[in-house]
Amino acid sequence: MKRRILSGVQPSGKLHLGNYFGAVKQHIALQDEADCFYFIADYHALTTIQDPKVLRENTHDVALDYLALGLDPAQATYFRQSDVPEVTELTWILSTVTNMGLLERAVSYKEKVEKGIDASVGLFSYPVLMASDILIYRSHVVPVGKDQVQHIEMTQDMAGKFNRAFSEVFPIPTYRLDKESKVPGTDGQKMSKSYGNTIEIFAEGKPLKDAVMKIKTDSKPLGTPLDPETCNVFALYSLFGTDAEKADLAARYRAGSIGYGEAKKLLLAKIDEYFEPARQKRKELAANPKYVDGVLQQGAQRARAEAQQTMALVREAVGMKARTVA
Ligand code: TRP
Repeated sequence: MKRRILSGVQPSGKLHLGNYFGAVKQHIALQDEADCFYFIADYHALTTIQDPKVLRENTHDVALDYLALGLDPAQATYFRQSDVPEVTELTWILSTVTNMGLLERAVSYKEKVEKGIDASVGLFSYPVLMASDILIYRSHVVPVGKDQVQHIEMTQDMAGKFNRAFSEVFPIPTYRLDKESKVPGTDGQKMSKSYGNTIEIFAEGKPLKDAVMKIKTDSKPLGTPLDPETCNVFALYSLFGTDAEKADLAARYRAGSIGYGEAKKLLLAKIDEYFEPARQKRKELAANPKYVDGVLQQGAQRARAEAQQTMALVREAVGMKARTVA
């Protein structure tokens, strides 16, 4: 049996270079080697987005983004979390084998509350829904960023508890850490939406140019040697350039034969070239919402069939009547 890989993405707005090189790129590459389930975590999003228009738009946006960037619906199962409502049923059942203390130790919850997000029951039990996402598809590997590792450890705990209390329904999942993002934002800190220093993948024209021109550099004058190792523009260029191109640009930096303005232009050209096909594809997809919806629905059908099989085992294991699968 092929390994099942699963990951969820919150529909939280525009994707940026940090998202892409840190996570999305690898997630899409994995579709060639494993049975991938990827979903848009709209139930989770409801803990922070309570505006139907925004939720709908963001969900549609992230669907387009992934498809434009190469997610292949013939290879991976791509769907909206809320199209498989069984996941909420499993959330309830798992919550009965989850200690309050476990959830109370969740760092992500505390951070969100500190940031001013309402401490709803949903926000508190967010990790149980996440565990349910993972376990309902009996996933083996979950690619995530560092900030989500604790949630995977909680999932392991819940799966183990359930298996011991009832029967061995769930494989214990492991995580696969996303590449530690070496993508600096325009201010030199790690690129992140919360720092307001992002360069969006699907920006183009003037907004993209403005973002690139904003990248912070030191103030060495034109004609003096520059240090590529400490330069944000060079670091970003390195994500796109070939080894030869990188070596060439580094040499020009050291020789003092290029200034930051010109380096930014080279970077801009690289970004344009790299994402051009995805931008085209995204426009085509945006003009064809029926197709996109069809992809998500087909994904949901596949995912739901799997979830219903797991739920039959779960209901049987806890002593409920196994529902007849539709
Ligand atoms: N909590 C994850 C995040 O914010 C999104 C998510 C929801 C997820 N369910 C998941 C990730 C299941 C992996 C597996 O990034």
